[in-house]
Amino acid sequence: MRIALVGFMGCGKTSIGGILASRLALPFVDLDGEIEASSGTTIAEIFSRQGESGFRAIEERCLAALAGRQGPFVLACGGGVVLSPANRAVLRKDFAAIWIDVPFSELKKRLAGEREQRPLLESDDYEDRAKKLFLARKQLYETTAQFTVRWEQGESPEASALKIIEMLENARH
Ligand code: S3P
Repeated sequence: MRIALVGFMGCGKTSIGGILASRLALPFVDLDGEIEASSGTTIAEIFSRQGESGFRAIEERCLAALAGRQGPFVLACGGGVVLSPANRAVLRKDFAAIWIDVPFSELKKRLAGEREQRPLLESDDYEDRAKKLFLARKQLYETTAQFTVRWEQGESPEASALKIIEMLENARH
């Protein structure tokens, strides 16, 4: 099975994805990591040199390449992956896509301490910008993902990963 985790910045895709992959004994792939490896530079550099549209083009290419990769793996996507209709189609067709649904009140707290490395949150009014992005994307996560895992107050990444495994097992029976 190929699992893709989607959701807003700060929802825990990378940490949950790593745990999920090790529990399922599958390779773990981070889409932002692939983008950086394939372009030989950082996400922040890509945004500053090529703008968001340049970044989105590379993101789309990397996701398409991963969709063609053989065998199962767990993929953690960047928060904006669902903006592209092509990416949404790939996620629906080639992956079991899981939305990690974390309320904005919690994301806001997490993002306050995790802004560096996230070019979209660079400005001082980052909270308003994040809220707007969140509201605009929520429906895209919901309609792209085959499954939704709702984060509960105090839930650790480990607990979220276990919830996902249980949900996938239930879906198979
Ligand atoms: C983005 C999220 C980031 C990264 C890039 C753009 C977004 O990934 O792909 O900065 O548009 O939400 P994370 O969701 O892992 O922070």
